[in-house]
Amino acid sequence: MWKRCGIFQHFYCGIILKCVLIDFASKKCIFANEKVKFMISERDFICKKYSFSQEKGTVTWEAPSNIALIKYWGKKQNQIPANSSVSFTLSECKTLTKVAFSEKKINDKHFSFEFLFEGKSKPDFYPKIEQFFERIEKYLPFLTAFHFVIDSKNTFPHSSGIASSASAMAALSLCLMDIERKFTTMSDGYFYKKASFLARLGSGSACRSVKGNPIVWGKHPEISESSDLFGVELDFELHENFKNYQDTILLVDVGQKQVSSSVGHNLMHNHPFSEKRFEQANQNLSEILEVFKSGDYDKFISIVESEALTLHSMMMTSHPYFILMKPNTLHIINQIWEFRNITKIPVCFTLDAGANVHVLYPEKYKNEISDFIKNRLSAFCQNGKFITDKTGVGAKSL
Ligand code: DP6
Repeated sequence: MWKRCGIFQHFYCGIILKCVLIDFASKKCIFANEKVKFMISERDFICKKYSFSQEKGTVTWEAPSNIALIKYWGKKQNQIPANSSVSFTLSECKTLTKVAFSEKKINDKHFSFEFLFEGKSKPDFYPKIEQFFERIEKYLPFLTAFHFVIDSKNTFPHSSGIASSASAMAALSLCLMDIERKFTTMSDGYFYKKASFLARLGSGSACRSVKGNPIVWGKHPEISESSDLFGVELDFELHENFKNYQDTILLVDVGQKQVSSSVGHNLMHNHPFSEKRFEQANQNLSEILEVFKSGDYDKFISIVESEALTLHSMMMTSHPYFILMKPNTLHIINQIWEFRNITKIPVCFTLDAGANVHVLYPEKYKNEISDFIKNRLSAFCQNGKFITDKTGVGAKSL
């Protein structure tokens, strides 16, 4: 045990000497006792000195799904987004993950883990986890020192067509950070930032599933702490109109998507409209930040619906092109437009990379929209199914 710790100390010794101490409370970075401008880089997530005080243990976290209002579609190397995005964190759709860790008998450089989904072994997930561990090992060197049993389950139906990678990667990252926290000291601010940073390396949008609403990911001039590396909360108070915002997810198609998000992101390279799209997303983010302050529902609706349709337009205009919407997706959109025209209730839709429709509306119209969904929209859902959700406060330890 101490021998290995010694190796770690030796390995990190040079780095520790140059260690950057970050005081998140005062938002200052202290380097060799000098206060310099607050800026976090990847290196700040490497600097670690471990003291293995525990040989085994268990940690459990739940992390929610999120729905993007300004979409992330297109990325650079190392999961760096091509544009900034913002999402609402949800509260009911979440992943619960328990990680049991125990000291490895053989001290080798390999990862040792088991993965269970709803209590059953799932070898199909191993390559994804192996790849995730490879990407994050640099930041969590203890990964090769322990054996992990990862036991995960979702609160939303298994084959609902709702991507669980965001909530799953966020929950796993928080568990791993909780383990790291047993071997070293860190502030809460650092804990959550690094959890979001690790989650991003698993799945980009997962970095927006750690904290509560709304979360911005990607460097944007109007959010001072925003970063390409992790998600951040708004630096101002969200307007009352957008608190407890409701999201009912209409399950139009619960099958496996024909084209994965990773493939879709890749098709944004050499896409004829990509540069313009990235500019537009950043501009839409500026505008939605104003809306979050002013509470303007009409502007919110026009930005959010345009973002959803633009995302799908990018899919339809890439090479090869593809369509993830289904006929019922369009029926629902038309029904929402008609209902909004007649009732003047500020209800709108957004889409993720699939056929399901997220119906977004203020809490005060819950009853009217619930009737509308049951009476008119559920007919377009597979087996009449939908999930009632709303914005939430982020992940929590169980
Ligand atoms: C359409 O985060 O699933 O939901 O980084 O390759 O794992 P990877 O992609 P992923 O992409 C999500 C795309 C989206 C829009 C969004 O959530 O911003």
